[in-house]
Amino acid sequence: MKATVKAPANIAFIKYWGKRDEKLRLPANGSVSMNLSGVFSTTSVEFDEKLKNDTVKIDGKYSKDREKLRVIKHLDRIRKMALLKMKARVESDNNFPKGTGIASSASGFAALTLAASKSAGLSLPEKELSILARIGSGSACRSIPDGFVEWKKGTSSKSSYAHSIFPHGYWDICNVIAVVGSIKKEISSTKGHSLVGSSPFFKPRMAGMRKKVLEIKKAISNKDFTKFGEITEREAINMHAVMMTSSPPLYYWTPDTVGLIIFVRNCRKIGLECYFTMDAGPNVHIICREKDSKRIESRLRKISGVERVIVNKTEAGARIVG
Ligand code: PMV
Repeated sequence: MKATVKAPANIAFIKYWGKRDEKLRLPANGSVSMNLSGVFSTTSVEFDEKLKNDTVKIDGKYSKDREKLRVIKHLDRIRKMALLKMKARVESDNNFPKGTGIASSASGFAALTLAASKSAGLSLPEKELSILARIGSGSACRSIPDGFVEWKKGTSSKSSYAHSIFPHGYWDICNVIAVVGSIKKEISSTKGHSLVGSSPFFKPRMAGMRKKVLEIKKAISNKDFTKFGEITEREAINMHAVMMTSSPPLYYWTPDTVGLIIFVRNCRKIGLECYFTMDAGPNVHIICREKDSKRIESRLRKISGVERVIVNKTEAGARIVG
């Protein structure tokens, strides 16, 4: 009855920031991402009739309070679907630091969804898994399908799920993550989403989202790297403008983040074409072509403040490994 799943984190080019339904985690807009080969969660779930309570261990430590409760709530959803009463043993390991703007909740909840449903004896289609992962943690729905992924805004819970638009390996682009801080976030992204309405920039942002999703899909389809990169950068700044103008304001950047934005622009000046994006954290994700990733990596390693560099290709979605 034990199932083990490996699920990748993902980086969004068109971002999800703001929900139209808090409980169901229905997004204010559609988003587009790619799965990351170098950052993932490996999660085992075992429903066991001998267990009196659910146990949740993340990165070797037993979880408590809100973190544990969120996992148990997700197990409850799966127990309800499988008509199961048994408690479960959950063990999850991330190969990267939690809560630093690398989406650990995305890979974690994608892995948990597939592992728990498999262990409960369910054999759910990809669409159902994506919907379930979304309810657990929004962007986790994008870590279920392969490669380049679109999460449809949808009109209801049933129609808001992620699907693959191009397989991994379709395009030889890399995401080189410059990790500049491993300090845990003060405000979680769950809370951050609820503040969007207080930013004067949120309405104008929403007005342009549908067009942006279409444009980036076209750029990926045409493998037009320049267009793709320009949209990605503009979108990251657009989302952070909303974050910084919310009440209370959310400043996820540090001086290192700004330094890396300048680094990327300087790379372009010398013909090393790359573009940046950031999530709810200070780390900078640098998108480049595979042929340039080594040069970018070695330049990044020389920058003080850059603690770690992680090179990612596009990757498959969540999969059972044991
Ligand atoms: O799924 P959450 O609640 O961790 O939100 C993710 C939000 C961003 O990473 C900032 C953007 C995105 O689309 O991944």
